[in-house]
Amino acid sequence: EWKMEDVLEEEIKVIRKVVADDDHVICALSGGVDSTVAATLVHRAIGDRLHCVFVDNGLLRFKEQERVMQLFEKDLHLPVTCVDAVEKFLGELKGVVDPEKKRKIIGKEFITVFDEFATKLEKEIGKKPAFLVQGTLYPDVIESCPPPGSGRSHSHTIKSHHNVGGLPKDMKLKLIEPLKLLFKDEVRELGKILNVPEGFLKRHPFPGPGLAVRVLGDVTEGNALEILRQVDEIFIESIKEAGLYDSIWQAFAVFLPIRSVGVQGDQRTHSHVVALRAVTSQDGMTADWYNFEHKFLDDVSRKICNSVRGVNRVVQDITSKPPSTIEWE
Ligand code: XMP
Repeated sequence: EWKMEDVLEEEIKVIRKVVADDDHVICALSGGVDSTVAATLVHRAIGDRLHCVFVDNGLLRFKEQERVMQLFEKDLHLPVTCVDAVEKFLGELKGVVDPEKKRKIIGKEFITVFDEFATKLEKEIGKKPAFLVQGTLYPDVIESCPPPGSGRSHSHTIKSHHNVGGLPKDMKLKLIEPLKLLFKDEVRELGKILNVPEGFLKRHPFPGPGLAVRVLGDVTEGNALEILRQVDEIFIESIKEAGLYDSIWQAFAVFLPIRSVGVQGDQRTHSHVVALRAVTSQDGMTADWYNFEHKFLDDVSRKICNSVRGVNRVVQDITSKPPSTIEWE
């Protein structure tokens, strides 16, 4: 039987062996459980030779930057630099509608930002950082690049996860992926041993490409991102108030690039449609759609249409994975 304490010790040993005594490491924190646990683990292994960066790519959720920076600085005491790359990311994504293209662009932009961060850091510490920490999990590895003999060919990438398949070949940094053999529940267990606050570990997964895979089509179109942030926040807060957050693997809203006719007050409207998605799952590989009570759905739907300008219709996603994926893009 393998214990998580042993996994932690083994990982720390490996990291200390791979990273030389004068090597520096950078880590991009997404605010998700995976990158946070990965960073905390590496910090445990090499201390302040770890340099974290949090990128505001314009694809974050409601107040996410403030919330996440507070957690890193106040609760985890991880030194983090916040980089504002909103214009850069959204500029590159303008007009792009193909989901795979969107993911590739985001992956590439992230690497550019890390490279710039590394260059700046080099000036401060007098040495090039040699490694990049990524919170890649086992399911990401098998979905992006299935192991030989699994019956799936390598060219059959299901989705180019930005933290696996989307990395450019000419990247100068070597990767450290301490969670590569773990499933989500194991990462949470590891986080607990590393004293990451419990409330944080229970946070639903959030994809690297952020809201870009939840605004279908061009993410820069109109105020799609802002509408999505408001709708998503109402949905998540309602789930928390109802005491359902911990029974759900992942819940979020999706912005659909269509308009439908509605009537609000005595006005005919031609406004946006949003979808609500909530699933239960063990590891994200398969998932079942979550069956809310009618009263809950009714309340949420009313609240969204009453308080988010530009939305006049709410639909619920009632598909499991397979045949759907959890995200819509
Ligand atoms: P799908 O949509 O493939 O998602 O059923 C399975 C799980 O993975 C998350 N996901 C990602 N995580 N980078 C990530 O770090 C990505 O590019 C990415 N795409 C999907 C998704 O939120 C779900 O938990």
